[in-house]
Amino acid sequence: MAGILGLGGYVPERVMSNDDWAALVDTTDEWITARTGIKRRRFASDDESTLDMAAAAAELAIKDADLSPADIGEIIVATDTPELYLPDTSSLLQDRLGCGNVPTYDLGGSGCAGFVQALDVARARIQFAPRKVLVVGVELISRLMSWKSRATCVLFGDAAGAVVMGPGEAKAEVLDVVTGTDGSKADILTLRTGGTRHPFSIDAAKTEAHRNIEMHGREVFREAVLRMSSAVTDVLRRIGKSVADVALVVPHQANKRIIDAVRKRLGVAEESVYVNVEEYGNTGSASVPFALWEAHQTGRINAGDLVVLTAFGAGFHWAAAAVQF
Ligand code: ACO
Repeated sequence: MAGILGLGGYVPERVMSNDDWAALVDTTDEWITARTGIKRRRFASDDESTLDMAAAAAELAIKDADLSPADIGEIIVATDTPELYLPDTSSLLQDRLGCGNVPTYDLGGSGCAGFVQALDVARARIQFAPRKVLVVGVELISRLMSWKSRATCVLFGDAAGAVVMGPGEAKAEVLDVVTGTDGSKADILTLRTGGTRHPFSIDAAKTEAHRNIEMHGREVFREAVLRMSSAVTDVLRRIGKSVADVALVVPHQANKRIIDAVRKRLGVAEESVYVNVEEYGNTGSASVPFALWEAHQTGRINAGDLVVLTAFGAGFHWAAAAVQF
């Protein structure tokens, strides 16, 4: 069985408040707070990059596992905001950390579900070929999103989270993971410009089309609630447990109203759901691993706790993992 050997997390120092956004676009602290529960988010400084943030979280996770970079046998980075277009962030991270010439790959484009999907891939890889796998979720979205679109810009923040997974004795066993995708819903959350269908162009740059995340907010909301709650129910059924056995649910931190709706649908008590969206906003693929790290660091997770991670993202993807600490 594959387990979590170490955890790490990182957020940049720069704080961007709702009032800071209200000075730039037509919005208010009241609107953002009421609709999303977000009060602040962190933005990377000008000299910080995706790789810097990924490395900071990864170094903590490797240290927490009492390992060194040379012990890592594989690296998966989940991100939609990579360091470069080519090559992938994972290969750059391998070099930055000083790991050996081990296989690495990125899992990109699956929005905020990327990390839990990567956890599932890592679990399968470890069962096939025992090794220590570094799994990172990282997003530096503040540099790539439009700062003019009030419908999306106020939602996001930058962060990184990481775990080291491996066989044998662990802090936590990953008991099971469920994942799913409904590709017919690709249009509800998409960035169209920049790929081969709509290549980047001067015209795109003029209209900021390459930064325009198209989001059907209400449909994303509906799908998120439905898919995250059913993924949690599915993964618990597969391990023969119920929500009454769960000590903490760590959901993707997109929006407090989505988290509350999932909680009510599942019938979980408020204190059994980890929420930090007020402080950090939606940090994409980093959201779940960063929240898991923070919950563990602050004593919200104890030995013996059954923890369920759940996420959704553009695709439309969803995933849930049952983790026994
Ligand atoms: N400030 C003020 N007004 C705004 C803002 C803003 N930042 N953004 C939109 N509005 C306006 C709209 O223009 C609209 O005005 P209109 O009625 O004159 O047309 C009005 O507010 C209401 O807009 P709605 O979109 O209907 O507001 P809604 O109550 O649906 O809330 C929200 C919008 C917060 C985006 C909600 O739909 C939501 O949370 N959806 C899910 C979003 C999400 O989690 N996305 C995930 C991102 S990526 C990921 O996590 C995978």
